[in-house]
Amino acid sequence: MTHKPVRKAVFPVAGLGTRFLPATKAMPKEMLTVVDRPIIQHVVDEARAAGIEHLVFVTGRNKAVIEEHFDYQFELSETLRARGKTEAMTLIDDLLPGAGTTSFTRQQKPLGLGHAVWCARELIGNEPFALLLPDVIVPEKGRACLANMIAAQNTSGGNYIAVEEVVPDLVDQYGIVDIDTSNGDGGMWPVKAMVEKPAIGTAPSNLSIMGRYVLQPEIFDILSRQAAGAGGEIQITDAMDKLMTAQPFHAVKLAGRSFDCGSKLGFLSANLHLGLQDEKVGAALRDEISALL
Ligand code: G1P
Repeated sequence: MTHKPVRKAVFPVAGLGTRFLPATKAMPKEMLTVVDRPIIQHVVDEARAAGIEHLVFVTGRNKAVIEEHFDYQFELSETLRARGKTEAMTLIDDLLPGAGTTSFTRQQKPLGLGHAVWCARELIGNEPFALLLPDVIVPEKGRACLANMIAAQNTSGGNYIAVEEVVPDLVDQYGIVDIDTSNGDGGMWPVKAMVEKPAIGTAPSNLSIMGRYVLQPEIFDILSRQAAGAGGEIQITDAMDKLMTAQPFHAVKLAGRSFDCGSKLGFLSANLHLGLQDEKVGAALRDEISALL
């Protein structure tokens, strides 16, 4: 049986960034810089490295600068060219998505992640797609995870969720999945159950949904009827839990760790970790940190 390949990815970038005020009062949280580029650029880089061809952004008011960031900036490019700044020019040219490979739609009201994803239904159409939460940065080491999920879908169909272990007293901040360990290998297992933000002590495991998914388009029909869940919001986890009665779901373990840049600590940690790996500033940053400590 052949399966439609995953070509498109959804980036729900409408969130208000309330965990990171005052930084995000006027500036979208996705545009905060980690080392040398906005958080959203790191996430898009990961999607493109995994072979995604079309980027679908679900934005909101005050997020227009994200659309600007992914456009050709004529004055900037011409100025760099005129001044012979080849390195900077190549960098921004390489990062520019091809003409016609981005789409933007708006989530008009903050009704939850599930609702944001549903807003992309017309742009995705009837094909499987990747979903990348834009707060979460996956460093290079973990990027094979999304590529593996896409490859598995393209061969076998089904739905895939990237997971990561969390400490038991944080399970109430995440979607949590339970897996069938008797029936999987190579870091991929069938999902038995999932629940959004379970109360501490009631979670079926400590495997958190970390923010990378490959989903079948049947999720949209479920989302169109999905009632509000945890936090009074329409949750993608609740819709996936329903789809699981009709289609297989697999959990895929992320190698290494991710950084939740929607929180102060996650953002600072991402800057440190990625900064230390940076070719240009890594060694000097290491000296700075050693001196400081
Ligand atoms: C969302 C998802 C949750 C997931 C988390 C990862 O929650 O609903 O299942 O574990 O992202 O960051 P949020 O962080 O938007 O509350």
